[in-house]
Amino acid sequence: MISIKSKREIELMKYAGHINYLTHEELAKYIKPGITTEQLDKIAHDFIIKHDCVPSCLGYEGFPKSICVSINDEIIHGIPGKRKLKEHDIVSIDFCVGYKGYHSDAARTYIVGTVSKEIEDLVKNTEKALYEGLSKVHSGAKIGDVSHAIESFAHKNGLSVPRELVGHGVGTDIHEDPDVPNYGEEGKGLVLKEGMTIAIEPMFNLGARYISMTDQDDWVIVTEDGLPSAHFEHTVLVTKDGYEILTGE
Ligand code: MF3
Ligand code: CO
Repeated sequence: MISIKSKREIELMKYAGHINYLTHEELAKYIKPGITTEQLDKIAHDFIIKHDCVPSCLGYEGFPKSICVSINDEIIHGIPGKRKLKEHDIVSIDFCVGYKGYHSDAARTYIVGTVSKEIEDLVKNTEKALYEGLSKVHSGAKIGDVSHAIESFAHKNGLSVPRELVGHGVGTDIHEDPDVPNYGEEGKGLVLKEGMTIAIEPMFNLGARYISMTDQDDWVIVTEDGLPSAHFEHTVLVTKDGYEILTGE
């Protein structure tokens, strides 16, 4: 079921989204070689709690931590632990913040120190693709318009799109209907309506689009060829003429 949010619900989601943004800003200060991914998790967890919100990934379908930290070939759902960030890594940080039963979901990918030009372009173009997708959002647009804009931007830049991982509705659940794929056809799919809240989240691979799960745990999803992947995500409100980013300033 696709829900249209009331004014009150949107206000709660805006707060959840704003704290999500501030938590990302806080974490950005600590993205340096030597920090462990569980240190980042603790910083985020404490920051979210301090602002009267809940880290809604914690315990979600059994996820054991408050944030997902995915390094290099890890696409999403990396579990924080003893691993340290190191020079030349790229690291995606993705998490949900809840306030009074309403959620927000946002992700960013950081470059640790320096990386090759092609990896830098992977990160930059994945972020640009998020805005390419967003530019298609308004009441009356089709989800395929958003999906197609993201996919064609990937292909134009020689990147691939893992098809198994998609954006989604957000609200009282982290994952609600509808799916918002990062590939698709213009003019196809569900019609967006004012008051829907959706997470748009391009994930692009430098190599092939194929993914696999590692044996270590049930969560982290990696690229099959071991090449890096980047991820950017915002939760947005669909408005009459466009959209409002809820996980921004
Ligand atoms: N943005 C991630 C997603 O949409 C966050 C999920 S929370 C987790 O899958 F608990 F599943 F990690
Ligand atoms: Co998401």
